[in-house]
Amino acid sequence: MTDTNPNNDNEGIDGSGRVIGTPSSAGGDRLVAAPADPHEEHEGAYPAAETHGRPEEMQRRGERLASLWFVVAFVAGVLFFVAYFWWNSAEIADPRIGQYSNMALGGSLALALFAIGAGMTVWTRQVMPHYEVGSPYDELPSSPEEKGSFGDFFMRSADESGFTKRPLLRRTLLLAMAPLGLAPIVLLRDMGPLPGDVLHSTTWRRGMRMVVEGSHREGPSTWIRAEDLENQPGAMISALPYVEPTEEHPHGLSLNDQAKAVILLIKMPDGAFKPTMTEEQLGWTYNGIIAYSKICTHVGCPAALYEQGTHRILCPCHQSTFDAADGAKVVFGPAHRPLPQLPISVDAEGYLVADGDFSSAVGPTFWDAERGA
Ligand code: FES
Repeated sequence: MTDTNPNNDNEGIDGSGRVIGTPSSAGGDRLVAAPADPHEEHEGAYPAAETHGRPEEMQRRGERLASLWFVVAFVAGVLFFVAYFWWNSAEIADPRIGQYSNMALGGSLALALFAIGAGMTVWTRQVMPHYEVGSPYDELPSSPEEKGSFGDFFMRSADESGFTKRPLLRRTLLLAMAPLGLAPIVLLRDMGPLPGDVLHSTTWRRGMRMVVEGSHREGPSTWIRAEDLENQPGAMISALPYVEPTEEHPHGLSLNDQAKAVILLIKMPDGAFKPTMTEEQLGWTYNGIIAYSKICTHVGCPAALYEQGTHRILCPCHQSTFDAADGAKVVFGPAHRPLPQLPISVDAEGYLVADGDFSSAVGPTFWDAERGA
């Protein structure tokens, strides 16, 4: 605490020249208030103050003690990491072991932070000089002289703090901070496994057959044949890849995989594709049958409505409209990106199959920057 009123005398707050909250002047330490009129001695915002540093012996003792605390903080920081990696996630899930993990993590981190605080306190009280700095309120903006004065004051304070002159303190402080600086790595790691290419790919692979979404997928009778659609111009069905059922997934696909892989299969009337469709896009169709992702590129609703007469695919959530005859380009609404197209063909037995994964990433547009879609 400092008295910043330039009209006060030099006796300080408690009348003895000592600033409340600082050590007494015993042992040769004396604190001096700011000059009665700072502008008499200094033109800047921070008037020059008389400095009374600690006795050298006290400073050396303080330096060693603060450094010791910083070393303790470093050791505690290292223990925090050791505690983090000591138990694996399966062990932590066991409450009997998990409690020790929590105690070790919390205890080591608390000790590290406490030791840094203790070291800083000792540094401040026993190494740094103590004096008051008085500064009257100034009218803004500051003059160049005042700014220069502040710069001088800042540099002088850095020098007086001992940070530059006392390498033991400086190095042990940096040592103590190093493990804590790495702590965010632990926090990031705890967010779970990296997503890998999960955002870039779906279940679809070359040669995968298709089944009607929502149907019982138990055998060849449910696989979609090209002829099921070829004779029905304008027909549209929702479909999924056929995957052998497992015990974990009796329908072959997890719900997450289904949500990403679902497609609209549309049989376009002859000559309906627009000339703006590229050769590649037309090559991904089979006999007028085209497949698009059913997941809207706005925020991911199922774009489940199809208007036969205009070949428009509609998303009921915010009315984004896609032109199925033109590569599912957006013709209306908030979506910014066409529905991804799934390359399809027919296998030797006449079943519709995928020719690979989607032409671009499936799902909402806000992932585009990350995925480069
Ligand atoms: S989610 Fe389809 S328009 Fe918004």
